[in-house]
Amino acid sequence: MNPHRLPRTVVPSRYDIRLEPDLTTFTFTGVETVAVTITEPVSEIWLNAVDLTITTVSVENDRGDTQRGSAIAEPASERYRLAFSTPVAPGPWRLRLEWTGTLNDKLRGFYRSRYKSSNGEWRWLVATQIEATDARRCFPCWDEPAFKSVFSSTLVVDPSLQAVSNTRIVSENVENGRKVVRFADTMKMSTYLVAFVVGELESTEAAMVGRTPVRLWCVPGKLRLTPFGLAAATASLGFFEDYYGIPYPGDKLDLLAIPDFAAGAMENFGAITYRETALLVDQREATHAELERVADVVAHENGHMWFGDRVTISWWNGIWLNEAFATFMEMLAVNAWKPEWKRWTTFGVSRAAAFAVDALWSTRPIEFPVRAPRDADAMFDVLTYEKGASVLRMLEQYLGADVFRAGVRDYLRAHLHDNADTGDLWAALGRASGQPIAMVMDGFIFHPGFPLVTARLDGRDLVVTQQRFTYLPAPPEGEPAPTAPAQRWQIPLQIRVHSGTTSTTHRILLSDDEARLRLPDRADAVLVNEGGHGFYRVRYAPDLLEGSLRRLPDGLDAIERFTLVNDTWASVLAGLVPLTDYLDLTARFREERDRNVWSILLASFNALHRIVEPSDRPRLETLVRERLARIVSTLGWAPRPGEDDLTRQLRGDVLRALGTIGNDREAQARTAELYAAATRDPGAVDPNVLPALIAILAHAGDRRRYDEFLERFRTAKSPQEEQRYLYALAAFQPADLIDQTLGRTVNGEIRTQDAPFVVRTLLMSVSARERAWQFVKANWDTMDRLYPKHGLRRLCEGVTGLVTPELEQDVRRFFAERKIDLGGKTLAQYLEQLRVAVAFREREGRALASYLSRVS
Ligand code: BES
Ligand code: ZN
Repeated sequence: MNPHRLPRTVVPSRYDIRLEPDLTTFTFTGVETVAVTITEPVSEIWLNAVDLTITTVSVENDRGDTQRGSAIAEPASERYRLAFSTPVAPGPWRLRLEWTGTLNDKLRGFYRSRYKSSNGEWRWLVATQIEATDARRCFPCWDEPAFKSVFSSTLVVDPSLQAVSNTRIVSENVENGRKVVRFADTMKMSTYLVAFVVGELESTEAAMVGRTPVRLWCVPGKLRLTPFGLAAATASLGFFEDYYGIPYPGDKLDLLAIPDFAAGAMENFGAITYRETALLVDQREATHAELERVADVVAHENGHMWFGDRVTISWWNGIWLNEAFATFMEMLAVNAWKPEWKRWTTFGVSRAAAFAVDALWSTRPIEFPVRAPRDADAMFDVLTYEKGASVLRMLEQYLGADVFRAGVRDYLRAHLHDNADTGDLWAALGRASGQPIAMVMDGFIFHPGFPLVTARLDGRDLVVTQQRFTYLPAPPEGEPAPTAPAQRWQIPLQIRVHSGTTSTTHRILLSDDEARLRLPDRADAVLVNEGGHGFYRVRYAPDLLEGSLRRLPDGLDAIERFTLVNDTWASVLAGLVPLTDYLDLTARFREERDRNVWSILLASFNALHRIVEPSDRPRLETLVRERLARIVSTLGWAPRPGEDDLTRQLRGDVLRALGTIGNDREAQARTAELYAAATRDPGAVDPNVLPALIAILAHAGDRRRYDEFLERFRTAKSPQEEQRYLYALAAFQPADLIDQTLGRTVNGEIRTQDAPFVVRTLLMSVSARERAWQFVKANWDTMDRLYPKHGLRRLCEGVTGLVTPELEQDVRRFFAERKIDLGGKTLAQYLEQLRVAVAFREREGRALASYLSRVS
């Protein structure tokens, strides 16, 4: 028997829960009555509870039989055994439990969060974060998604505080000086969606979407930061009602900004919780990227209200479906709300992030068996979210958007209030499309990795072949050898052939090793992944590549240019294309005006910075300045009237690169002037440019600037402003300033929700990485104790920046000696990414040096 699963002999259907949190002692007491059905005589009842002390246990039935039991904790499996001296007979029973617990500071279960009031004093609120399996830290329960129940909750709180849960308040009375708040029954739902928030909160007026009141909540003083998030919430809620063809299933929808929050946001039914940066924003002062982040997260969580909350996975191996689908829907909803943001084009960056992990031997299939909760935690990664959403998008484009939507509606209707699995979605999409969905999708869902499609000409035939794409030619130690026969996918290809001024699109399913397409005589360019929706990379023979490049800058769509650059860069990392070819290629993009294409170009320059010999760094900076010169002079430092949001953001991105990895003195001097002007008059600089100025000043900054930015971090007026200055603190180069910032990651000055990410940034920074690594080694135990689990995992990603053979050895030794397990394959993936980067350095270091000596 798997000790992480509960027996099915006792099944709950309803919880009446009463919780009384004490915000002065940071403890809470709980009482619940769970309606259960017992299917065979049991002398013990198993349920989940951990870090709770169960004090009273009894069962009773309608016939008036009652029996007391005793509670025995089994902390290793996060369970309690409730033992009864005589077996409890089959039938319906009410299980009554009382318990106590602490309001912890680990950002999970029932936890406390701290914020500064307007008079500068620290205040507390309490909130829950329960997914995946931390309901058991709040109330004893059957903490598996398949045990759906109705929840009827009561919170007993100080009369000065607000209490929020999944449903509307049905009554509020003061008893014995305490406020007793009763909430309406929820729909039948899984434990991981329960939420309680108590504090001195403020809320907006309700905005109505049909009959649903939608509100935003925040700590006092931040209401001015709510309008954008509220607009995003109402827009996406309306979009989803329409798309799913089912009204929002709850009686209200609250979105709450919690000052300390481990993840980005959590789709608790009717009471969605957020970290502040993902919900609260000053619309006039934010960058495009910051606004997009809010719109994304809000849309994502709203999308879950149906897909996930109403129809729920049966077990955590299906988490990819939940998260991938919400990510896919997030794109659709944001794209519908702000078409000018071209969200499906910018999604290319997310797809690229998934490719980067999925090209490792240590990748995993999207769907994967999960035994322990710890394995479920490790599944919240780019493979689940970004690869998952990419393959859903590929499928949607393959089937057609209308057919896909019809299948999704069918799936939701068929399983309302129930649990469902990947196979159920494929079945519904199969009904809608009349196509065998699993045949195409299984290769992408149940197998690791993705294909590289190679395209070449053979006379008048286009020949495409497939093979698995990996960075390293063979698995590193510890990874299994590849399977024989070689892995094959069913790949929906969308190929565009240009002949002079006309073009034709061909759709073929590449299921064998090779396929051929007869080209017209005058064919002069071929694009294999038209629209960029496919989850595969393409490698063109030189003549085909040249054909596409001749169409620059405007003959290819932005996503196609992006894909071309990104696929080529990946091929360089894999040793399939020489670095010098790629560097030549980047010169063809001087005229580029698309933000994504630039982001991938700049990311590759950043990667080169990590491997270049220090003595060659000035030459690399010269190369970066040269590549950027054209776009910077075209865009200038200030927006033009009528410019779109993406162009404004692009300006910020390229200026930042010019002043940091381009180390451009002139830009740095100009930055100082502009920043001073912006300090006098906040309207003097475009909001998209200001964060770039801050980053540049930090990059070239001294102690005086550091102290100034530290003060700005402490007194920031919006979560975004706070983040900009926080990350700026990690960008100063003098050793003593790096040490100061490192110190602040463990002394409580930087919230534990942010500190791991700051450390990660330092590990990836060329000037800070060695000090940061020493610091991590010396402070590992402290970090492990302080940071939320999820944060620690993200922190470790920073080791991929430690790109020297010596550091790599040291990293491996450290993790092995300390026997650190980050859950799932996470650590193996980081180590392999580091291996890839070091191997790249060893292979191409010389070529880079001689290329740089030629250009400058
Ligand atoms: N269900 C997740 C939150 C979550 C993540 C809970 C990990 C437990 C562990 C939520 O729907 C989510 O996906 N949040 C994202 C933001 C989203 C826009 C990608 C997050 O927290 O990063
Ligand atoms: Zn999600």
